[in-house]
Amino acid sequence: MKKLIAISIGTLLVTSSLLLSPAPVSAATHAPYLHTQFTITESMQPADVLVVLVPEEHGELRLTGWSRDSRAHINRAINVADFTGKADSQLEIVAPVGLNYGRLLLIGLGNPSELSRAKAEEMGASLSSWVNNSKAETVHVHSQLIANAGDNHRIAAAISHGVELRNYRFDRYKSSPEARPAQRYSWQVALATDARAAFEQKQALAQGVFTARELTNLPGSDGYPEAFARYAQTVLTPLGVEVTILGPEQVKELGMGSLYSVSQGSHMKAHLLVARWKGAEGDPIALVGKGNSFDTGGYNLKTQAASILRMHTDKAGGAAVVGAIKALAGQKAPVHVVGVVPLSINMISGDAYLPGDVVTAGDGTTIEVGNTDAEGRLILADGIWYAREHLNAGVIADIATLTGAKVGALGNAYAAIFTQHSDIEATLRDAGDMVHERVWPLPLDGYDNIVKSRIADRINTGSPGAQAGAIFLQHFAADTPWVHIDMAGNAFSASASGIHPEGSNGYGVRLLTEWVKLYHQQQQD
Ligand code: BES
Ligand code: ZN
Ligand code: MN
Repeated sequence: MKKLIAISIGTLLVTSSLLLSPAPVSAATHAPYLHTQFTITESMQPADVLVVLVPEEHGELRLTGWSRDSRAHINRAINVADFTGKADSQLEIVAPVGLNYGRLLLIGLGNPSELSRAKAEEMGASLSSWVNNSKAETVHVHSQLIANAGDNHRIAAAISHGVELRNYRFDRYKSSPEARPAQRYSWQVALATDARAAFEQKQALAQGVFTARELTNLPGSDGYPEAFARYAQTVLTPLGVEVTILGPEQVKELGMGSLYSVSQGSHMKAHLLVARWKGAEGDPIALVGKGNSFDTGGYNLKTQAASILRMHTDKAGGAAVVGAIKALAGQKAPVHVVGVVPLSINMISGDAYLPGDVVTAGDGTTIEVGNTDAEGRLILADGIWYAREHLNAGVIADIATLTGAKVGALGNAYAAIFTQHSDIEATLRDAGDMVHERVWPLPLDGYDNIVKSRIADRINTGSPGAQAGAIFLQHFAADTPWVHIDMAGNAFSASASGIHPEGSNGYGVRLLTEWVKLYHQQQQD
């Protein structure tokens, strides 16, 4: 998109574009591409569609205000269709007798106390795609058949989250975006005041996911290091997050030659983004995300069309970190967390770094560049070191689209995790299961020698590939408890499915958000 206008103010380059316009922070001010609004109520509301969440073994269906004729029609339809309310079943009744709704949709829940959050989110996503196809603009969702108040709010909020996550569109580059009806959902719950908190927490989480999707979806030339950093600053600062951006000169001055080297061949130089949400005292939990705006491979060029094409998503780890910080701040979570995003763009020119070069990291480690395409670990090395040395992190989790070897080992159903701390591993796996962004451990032990260099302290290549990345990074965390998350392959959905729209899906935001809260809680106990 060539609508970018760059204005020089002194030495500071300020870039102004759509990209930098203030981002939406509340449901009321949603930008057009995130367009779901809802209200929470305890009474029936008029709408185009009435959705009723139906537990299994519900008996005859009767809602307050339904006439004898309505009940007869609806229950006859239920019997004919053999709708029992088991999980995942649906029944649509068009023009229900005596009701002011064009359509009635019954959604089976199974046993509500056994309905998981991930499953409820999936139900919301399929509700969302059904509503979109129906062209309805207003939807009333009745959840009061879920008798237990805790289950009622938990399930309604999770379904609403699924609706919202599926409703994201990336259309900022369309000159005439597909029309999107102004959808409004009213949620009829057990206790509106109690439910509101659950809904607001989920909404803050969705806002974090949208930010990550947006950043990851940006083409390489628009999501360059400084633009990424400014975008993050714009969306985070209003939430009370303290944002610091180190430019290329500061990166160099602080000795982060490993981070600097990757983009030295581009005029779009390295940056380091630091975002702190301080909702508690104590040492921060550090999230370090790979923010490589585009990965050409450098002089070890990616020569296959298919291998280079989606490399604008190589900033997905950094985007997940920004999204998680946004979600935690939006939730006013009682945690102290810092996001650190080393930002680069891996390109070729007369100034680019070369295979065989030796670069020096912030901690003084000399690194032989065995392959310019193993750039992620070079920028993360300095990000991890910065979190430990300059931010006094109590624990560090790094997250990155790091290796093709990880995709070979696990595909995209899981991300790989590497850690020697069982409490980190256990809480990460719990968080991943909770939000269905699952992780699976791979070993670190026994691979110490694979990144030894003949001429420098370490080399950025080795075999097996995923372990080489992890072992390389471990050194920079030193004694600080640490985990590496290799999310290569996870962040991009070839087609819309479940809560994921087509394209960047925001993988990692919900994993990191829940993990930070679980880990923090565990440290308190
Ligand atoms: N960004 C890639 C990893 C990647 C591959 C992410 C496929 C998503 C999908 C990374 O920078 C890379 O190029 N890794 C190389 C490392 C190798 C040269 C040591 C790889 O895995 O092939
Ligand atoms: Zn990469
Ligand atoms: Mn690469």
